[in-house]
Amino acid sequence: MAVQRSRRSKTKRRGNRVTELVLKGKHIALGVTGGIAAYKCCYLVREMKRAGADVKVIMTHSATKFVTPMTFSALSGHDVYTDLWMTNQDTKSDIGTRHIDLAQWADILLIAPASANSVAKLTHGLADNFLTVVALACTRPIVLAPTMDADMFLSEITQKNLSLLRERGYFVIPSPEGEHASGLKGPGRLPDIEPIIAFVEDVLRKTNQDLQKKHILVTAGPTYEAIDPVRFIGNRSSGKMGFAIANAAALRGARVTLVSGPVALETPRNVERINVESAQQMHEAVAARAKKADAIIMAAAVADFAPEKQAKNKIKKNGATSIPELKLAPTVDILESVGKTKNGHVVVGFALETENELSNAKAKVRKKNMDLVVLNSLRESADVFGSDANAVTFIDKKGKVQKLPKLSKFDVANEILDRVKKLL
Ligand code: CTP
Repeated sequence: MAVQRSRRSKTKRRGNRVTELVLKGKHIALGVTGGIAAYKCCYLVREMKRAGADVKVIMTHSATKFVTPMTFSALSGHDVYTDLWMTNQDTKSDIGTRHIDLAQWADILLIAPASANSVAKLTHGLADNFLTVVALACTRPIVLAPTMDADMFLSEITQKNLSLLRERGYFVIPSPEGEHASGLKGPGRLPDIEPIIAFVEDVLRKTNQDLQKKHILVTAGPTYEAIDPVRFIGNRSSGKMGFAIANAAALRGARVTLVSGPVALETPRNVERINVESAQQMHEAVAARAKKADAIIMAAAVADFAPEKQAKNKIKKNGATSIPELKLAPTVDILESVGKTKNGHVVVGFALETENELSNAKAKVRKKNMDLVVLNSLRESADVFGSDANAVTFIDKKGKVQKLPKLSKFDVANEILDRVKKLL
């Protein structure tokens, strides 16, 4: 027993040394929802406080069935928010604005445990208790630790909800497998305190508000070039890279406008989205906003050619005496036109190459007057389309090459934004 105890405290000490740096002085709003794992979050409050954070706790009505608000109040040193209509909170703010005050106070909102019910409410924008109201009002990062019985966790609807929330920019802590209070085995357990804190630290590091007051314009997805009212020429771009950039920039405090071709992705939180279809529409949307942007990041896979003429009616097979031939004309190069009219803003483009990658990409930097190009090599990662990870190489306008290992698209997005920040 004695050996076990000392080993555990040594790990904690090591963990605490790291956490002290990142959590010190941070405002953490902790949302606790109904589930037996709520009791473990008492330790979470204590550890985050020990690491220097100021923690305010919000409990749903169901959470108060598992742990009393008094416990969290004693541990956090603040009154606990349980009821939208309570007036005696230590913020002393007006009842009508307490949720806004708390949402603005928080550097991060951590919801642990996040029950299946609360996950579903967040997905659909319900605002029926203090926690869901604060979550809707909060513009800072929101981290969820989904915690529920394995079957509920694995159910299609919960997985779909979590995936929608991830697309919108919520962070979801991976749930460990193990035995549940019900005796079921599988995922859906609350992670240990240390991994939760490490995850929160990582999110805080990557969302440190260093792009506040900057306006970033991002293009994403494919373009569709109409052949007739039914058919089009398109490409396999999923839009994930551009959406990851928009999400990461918004989480770092930037004002973000995302001009997107047709994709099946949710709009990240705090991002203004303009939907377009064709290269011409994307060009107009970018041109109208480019002057006011501090940086323009062109991740869209814009069609290089479009049908010269669009048929008014659907081209019919019946009665055709010959197979119709498509005559193509070049589309406007949006990036090149942005480069030509560049006036103080940073311009980042992408290049997708299958051969002579470096020399082709370097030529593009010059031709399109970019500050930086992000090179995707189909040879390096054949799954660049639709995948959640990417291996890219940066080339700046001086020709300096920097190759990155395979990273998540969110991490690639932050690497791009780190470089944009230096150029701003
Ligand atoms: N791009 C653009 N407008 C176009 C075509 C491309 O703005 N009509 C932008 C893309 O968003 C990307 C960059 O140009 O940031 C490079 O795209 P890519 O397809 O790799 O290169 P192209 O210039 O189209 O040249 P090529 O197809 O010959 O490689």
